[in-house]
Order: sequence, then C-alpha cells, then structure tokens
Amino acid sequence: MPLMGEEEKRAVLGVLESGQLAQGPRVREFEESFARMCGVREAVAVSSGTAALVVALLAHGVGVGDEIITTPFSFVATANAVLLAGARPVFVDVREEDFNIDPALIESRITPRTKALLPVHLYGHPCDMESIAAIAARHGLALIEDACQAVGASAAGRKVGSFGTGCFSFYATKNMTTGEGGMITTDDPSVAEKARRIRDHGQVERYESELLGYNFRMTELAAALGLAQLGKLESFIEGRRANAQYLSEHLQGVQTPGERPGFRHVYHQYTVRVAAGRDELAGRLREDGIETGVFYSVPIHRQPLYRGLGYRDSLPLAERLSQEVLSLPVHPGLSRADLEAVVASVNRSAVTAGGGGG
Ligand SMILES: Cc1ncc(COP(=O)(O)O)c(C=O)c1O
Repeated sequence: MPLMGEEEKRAVLGVLESGQLAQGPRVREFEESFARMCGVREAVAVSSGTAALVVALLAHGVGVGDEIITTPFSFVATANAVLLAGARPVFVDVREEDFNIDPALIESRITPRTKALLPVHLYGHPCDMESIAAIAARHGLALIEDACQAVGASAAGRKVGSFGTGCFSFYATKNMTTGEGGMITTDDPSVAEKARRIRDHGQVERYESELLGYNFRMTELAAALGLAQLGKLESFIEGRRANAQYLSEHLQGVQTPGERPGFRHVYHQYTVRVAAGRDELAGRLREDGIETGVFYSVPIHRQPLYRGLGYRDSLPLAERLSQEVLSLPVHPGLSRADLEAVVASVNRSAVTAGGGGG
C-alpha cells in the first residue's frame, strides 16, 4: 500500500484547481528537486521507468546492431527496453554478494558492437559502481544505471543515478510513487536535452520535430505527487532500513541480505535466500497471513520471449537464485507486531524444516 497523506491530497487538488494537467511547471520543479537529491545537474521526468530506460538508451545513440551488457536477474523491463531501442541485450551473470551484475565477468562479453553497460541496482542495493564505471571508461562505453528499485541508495557516498545516466521508476509499489512515472538523471546536458526531445516527439519548438520520439511526458498530477513523496523519501527509506535491521537481527534459518560497507541499501525488497524449500516456506507464511514475493522466478534469458529470440545462455547463479530468493514484508507502514509475526512465522518454519541457509 503506497503511503499517501494530506500533502499528496492537497498537491493533487492544487493541480486540479490550477487547470493545467499535462506537463508544466510542477514537472519542472519535480525534475529540479530530484536532480538535487541525486546530486546531478539534470533530471528529465517521463511516464514510467520503462520509458526512462528506452529514452536513456536512445539519448545515448543506441540502436540497431548495438549490444548492451546487462543482468539476467532483473524485472524483464530492463532487457525489453534494450530490444525496444532496437539493440540486443547481452547477459552477464550476477555475483553471490549482492545478486547484482558481476563486474569480473563483464569484460569477457565486450565486443566491437558493445555500446553501453546497463547494470541494475537490484532490490535497492547498489551495484559495484566504481568497478563498473572504470570498465565503461576503459572501453569508451555509455553507462546507464537501472535504478528503478533504488531511489535514494548510494555507493561510496554517491547516490545511484549519478555514476552514469540514471533511470528511475515511480510505479505504485516503489519506495516513492507517482502511480506511474519515471525519471532520467544525468550530468551531461546534451543527454538531457536529447532525452527531453525524445520524450516529446523530437520537438524543439512546438510542432517542429527534429528526431523520432514518443509521448512519454509526465502529467502535472504525477509531478505533484512526486514532489510530496520526494519530501518524505528519507523517512520512507529510514523506515525500511529499520525494519530490515530488525528482520536481519531476528530471522533464523535463511540467508539475510547484506549491505556492502560504505553502501546504502534502500530495501525496495528485503530478500532472503532459502537453500531448500523456498516455495514451501512461502506457503507456510501465506497460511500465517504473511504475503511474500519471488523476484524473479524466471531469469530474463529463460523467459519465453528471449528463448524465442535464440537466447541459450547458461547463467548458473541467476538460475539458482530464481529458485532460492524470497522477499519478505519490509514496508515502512509495518508495525512492530507485523515484524514480530514475520519473524515468528519464518523461524517456526525454519525449525520445522531443520534449519538450513545461514
Ligand atoms: C529493475 C526495474 N527496471 C525497470 C522497471 C520498469 O519500471 P516501470 O514499471 O515504471 O515501467 C522496474 C519496475 O517496475 C524495475 O524494477
């Protein structure tokens, strides 16, 4: 359940009373506030995280014949955006530490056709951005961050979305939401300028189109919600982090998520690893009234769409994780009693199953 308060209600009513519903001054204000939060020069608001990815790829000149290196262990939108831009995703397996793309495996997949790296900050834990940015620089590749799950996260003191071109989602379940919505962040004014045009049918002046684009504009209603939610982002994140800490201190029999030193995990998902019997554990939690999620039960290269496109990669860790991950409730609206119920249910189940994990 998204946390919506009086601020959001007043903000949306204000838009309705203003008479300006489509992209206007509130979108601009939301972009400026978001850029400040990320520590970047420019932000471009769009209609979804998927739109942010497609526009970011196109703004970097990605097109037919290009290869984009990314992770197979993400929401399918990450790779679909690459296909929609006319390019081909190349999948590199993830690493044990944080389930994010393994920088040590990237260089072996770079070819003369590689145009960009597209790491995903899965569940809200940043990728190893220093290593990944160094690889991109060494090979002259664009760096696009899928930060759709990681708004407000940071690595080595820098916010995600500030290492390369950042792509964010404000879908209803995200750590801050506008219902549907997205944002592109960049320090490069030419990327921002191109993204603004692609968002709006390539127009510079009204009715003067220079390049092919879409209608991926954000509404004033969404921007008003976004501004109100952005003001609460820190408290939402701190709520999630406190809940995650409680769970990690009390859960038994499962592998709890780690946080790399110097990194800030924003726990879009609190995901444990269950060595055996993940689906049985989820079933027992459901009997206790606790909803869990599996993100993702099929890695992208194993999706029917990608099998049909000829993908036959073997990516062992992504494939194993898809059988072992389980996301537990971590929402900032949870009470202490809710958290105690989650812990009691998991630990009871783990005892019944004879422990495991670690
Ligand atoms: C990792 C990742 N990439 C991309 C997206 C796409 O965002 P949206 O649903 O706003 O299009 C999402 C979220 O849904 C996501 O979790």
